Amino acid sequence: MDYSVKVMDHFSNPRNMGSIENCDGIGEVGNAKCGDIMKIFLKVEENRIVDVKFQTFGCGAAVASSSMATELIKGKTLEEAWKLSNKAVAEALDGLPPIKMHCSMLAEEAIHEAINDYLRKKGLEPWKD
Ligand code: FES
Repeated sequence: MDYSVKVMDHFSNPRNMGSIENCDGIGEVGNAKCGDIMKIFLKVEENRIVDVKFQTFGCGAAVASSSMATELIKGKTLEEAWKLSNKAVAEALDGLPPIKMHCSMLAEEAIHEAINDYLRKKGLEPWKD
C-alpha cells in the first residue's frame, strides 16, 4: 500500500498528541469493524479552539488523520471546525488509499463529538450533521 510522504510524516511525527487537563470538550469515537478508537480534546475560548490534542489507538492512517485534523482546526471557530470533512483531511495529507478513507472519518466524527460535548456542557443544543 502506498502512503504519501505527508501521511508517513504525520504518522511518525504526530502533532498535538496527548490529552488536555480541564478540557472543555471530549469526543470519543470508534470504528466497530477494525476496533480503532480516537479521542479529541478541545480547549475553547470565545467560540474558538485555542488548543486541541488527540489520542488514537488505531492504524497509521488514523494517527496521521488525527494529527492533520488537529492542525487544521487549531485556532479555528467551532463552526469552521465543524465543517472540516474527512475528505479535506485526506486531501491535506495528499490523499489516502481508498480502503483507508474510513480512517479519516474517525477524525471528522471525533471533532463533531467533542464540539457537541462542549455545547452540552454549556447547556446548548448539540449540532447535527
Ligand atoms: Fe481502523 Fe484505520 S483501520 S481506523
